[in-house]
Amino acid sequence: MARILVTGGAGYIGAHTVYFLLRAGHEVIVVDNLCRGHRRYVDPARLRVLDIRETRPLAKLLRQEAIDAVIHFAAYAYVGESMEKPEIYFDNNVAGTVSLLNAMTETGVRYLVFSSSAAVYGVPREVPIPEDNPVAPVNPYGESKAMVERMLTWMDRCRGLRSISLRYFNACGVEPGSGLGEEHDPETHLIPLVLRAARTGEPVTIFGDDYATPDGTCIRDYVHVSDLATAHLAALDWLLQGGPSEVFNVGTGKGHSVMEVVRTAETVVGKQVPYQIGPRRLGDPPVLVASPEKIQRTLNWRPVYTRLEDMIRTAWEFEKTRS
Ligand code: UFG
Repeated sequence: MARILVTGGAGYIGAHTVYFLLRAGHEVIVVDNLCRGHRRYVDPARLRVLDIRETRPLAKLLRQEAIDAVIHFAAYAYVGESMEKPEIYFDNNVAGTVSLLNAMTETGVRYLVFSSSAAVYGVPREVPIPEDNPVAPVNPYGESKAMVERMLTWMDRCRGLRSISLRYFNACGVEPGSGLGEEHDPETHLIPLVLRAARTGEPVTIFGDDYATPDGTCIRDYVHVSDLATAHLAALDWLLQGGPSEVFNVGTGKGHSVMEVVRTAETVVGKQVPYQIGPRRLGDPPVLVASPEKIQRTLNWRPVYTRLEDMIRTAWEFEKTRS
């Protein structure tokens, strides 16, 4: 049992991770400014409504709560928005992390699990993507994650701060019975939009069907949010047991096209999903699939959800509650 501070714990992936941390017997405090998170995802007794850029209260909290390790989710996460307003990504994601690192240094908290992204690879050199693929982001969101990863390398060398950066691929699904959901505003992610189309009859737009892939639509590595959560627990254990700093991909290693997502959703829902073909979305790489070999070998992490259909089913169970 450890005392963990989770930043951004009222968000989609953060709240799922808190749910699994509590189940594993850890003590958890959540810091979230609620600008994009959901108050109802967090037990009020654990929630501290605070912006991570407020270094003084953050340091006070780390000290008062005798925190052993931090899991850091708090960040903006829209690629498109980051192209329009890069400065808010550097402010919240990068300067926010600098503030957190200052608070951790001051209070002697030595372990950090960081929420990174496949976006750090930009358009990858090889697929499946190994962790040593060049880091070459193609948008400010990915750049903000890459910048933090680089800061963490120096924080280890100069300060002995141990960290794990987890490069997520496409998070999806909802943990059954958790009371949590996937609720972004606006929603931009494929699976919730496909399921919304099934529920409302309003067509979802497929961004391009002329890519050099078997069916012409983009391929992604969908990983269930509950499996992402357990990857954080494994990373945390690794650090607490004295493991060195590392960077890991978190994906299943299997790719699915947009069209496959639509067809699989139709099977799950039991009716046709209305869709239309639109132009390509700027900055979408045709194929993003992880090599999950390193995290499997090092942390012994394996996804429970390996079938797209099972992942989509958990998302549908949640989507149905919205109608
Ligand atoms: N897509 C559509 N129609 C939609 C929404 C998405 O066709 O309405 C397609 C996209 O073009 C893409 C695929 O569905 O090919 C998945 O798109 P998402 O928006 O669900 O996810 P992304 O792959 O764009 O984004 C994910 C993470 C980001 C991360 C990015 C790395 O959500 O945080 O991978 O490139 F930055």
